[in-house]
Amino acid sequence: MPEPCPVAATLGVRSLRGTRATSPIIKALRAAAPHLYWKQTYTEDEVGRDFLDEYGYVELFGPGGHYASNKLRGYIGFWGPGLTYDRHDHESEERYFTLAGNAVFCAKGSPNLMLHPGQARSHASHQPHLMVTLDQPFLAYAVWRGAGFDGLPRMMASQA
Ligand SMILES: [Fe+2]
Repeated sequence: MPEPCPVAATLGVRSLRGTRATSPIIKALRAAAPHLYWKQTYTEDEVGRDFLDEYGYVELFGPGGHYASNKLRGYIGFWGPGLTYDRHDHESEERYFTLAGNAVFCAKGSPNLMLHPGQARSHASHQPHLMVTLDQPFLAYAVWRGAGFDGLPRMMASQA
């Protein structure tokens, strides 16, 4: 049995700065966090212990989600402050919608962008990208669609 994801127990007490529009979602997620199925895609060898202690996601719908879907995958992701979610890619297209906090997104062929609550960012299929959180945790809703939506990201740190 996998270790429980630390985020499941701590989301309810984290400092999460949203907007008037995203705050009700954050409030609901805080209450639901201990009851949701939190996962981690990566191993300690890939991303380190500090990252795993401050990262987790809930697949709301998808092949392994709370609701089964064979067309799309949607998830809520959490990353603590001061993390680098290193360069990776995946076949699926991806769109992030920021709920709380902020993070800097860097993607090959796109301008770097700091996302704030209410803002979104897309990544094309196989577009390498990375994300850095600064002084705040980052909470986002994300959707994967298209070929490979049921796959996993592939870390590319050694090719940066
Ligand atoms: Fe991604």
